[in-house]
Amino acid sequence: MSAIGQHVHCRGALALFMVLTPPAYTESDSGHIQLSCWSGTGENMSTPPRLVLSARTLPRITASTLLENKRLGRPITALTAYDYPTARLVDEAGIDLLLVGDSLAMTVLGYDTTLPVTLDEMLHHARAVARAARRCLLVADMPYGTYHVSLEQATENALRFIKEAGMAAVKIEGGIEQAPLVKKLTRAEVPVVGHIGLTPQSLHRMGGYRVQGKTPEAIHQLLRDAEALEAAGAIAIVLEGIPRELAARITSALTIPTIGIGAGPDCDGQILVFHDLFNLTFSQHPRFVRPQADAATLFRDGLVRYRDEVVSRSFPSDAESYHLPPELNHEPALTLIK
Ligand code: KIV
Repeated sequence: MSAIGQHVHCRGALALFMVLTPPAYTESDSGHIQLSCWSGTGENMSTPPRLVLSARTLPRITASTLLENKRLGRPITALTAYDYPTARLVDEAGIDLLLVGDSLAMTVLGYDTTLPVTLDEMLHHARAVARAARRCLLVADMPYGTYHVSLEQATENALRFIKEAGMAAVKIEGGIEQAPLVKKLTRAEVPVVGHIGLTPQSLHRMGGYRVQGKTPEAIHQLLRDAEALEAAGAIAIVLEGIPRELAARITSALTIPTIGIGAGPDCDGQILVFHDLFNLTFSQHPRFVRPQADAATLFRDGLVRYRDEVVSRSFPSDAESYHLPPELNHEPALTLIK
């Protein structure tokens, strides 16, 4: 089949003139056609439109999907993302849960801790992520100070993530002391993901980012925390920075899934920070991160090449330029534009 031009409704509202090379439609187990499209315009200004085989046309992941995955022993995949392009890539890769983490304070906004990021900043990033994601379960972190004053204020703030930012759940840090809030949010139809162990918003109490749950009292407390969050209605719990053995114990004690970060391989799922995974943090990665690619080097090399090509005038070339139509591209006509 030769190239065809057609109007394609892609991402809902946009009707874009697409020129598609022979489409590589494939059918998934569930019978869905696995085809998604990036935008493209009639004019050849950039890379031609591409067909992207992706998980995006599969059904949405929900809290029930996570529960079912745990029941069936299927590992849950989770990752942070904070903007449209990274969320789009995470979604297309078939990651189950996408967290708009308050780690964006550090990874994207350049703060030293997660504490300064505001509710409005989190909502701004969450909206961009929601525009990108089609399949994964969208969870946003409630930032520090937005759920610590009163249950009423916390509920109002949490509702904004659902109503204004298109999130499907919020995550809050803390154990048994947050159970009343988890209960209240769940009753208000705001699904909650808990987060215990090394909770970065407790930086000052913990006296640094230290592995938690290393004494008999701390182990006992973390078990009680996990059980209290589950009883209050949490849909999953992030276990961060705790010994593998304790994470395994908590995981087997709960019906809801645990999602680990620095908590070993026995959790029901794993989450990492996107920027850790691709060497974009400008610091040494922690032990629990296994980087998958070096995006910093990729970007650095590309930036230096771009700079050099502009300085040496090898960019842009004639082929990368637009030209006058032939009837105007001769000397007498050119005087018109002098
Ligand atoms: O903010 C974040 O990125 C997180 C993950 C580390 C779980 O809370």
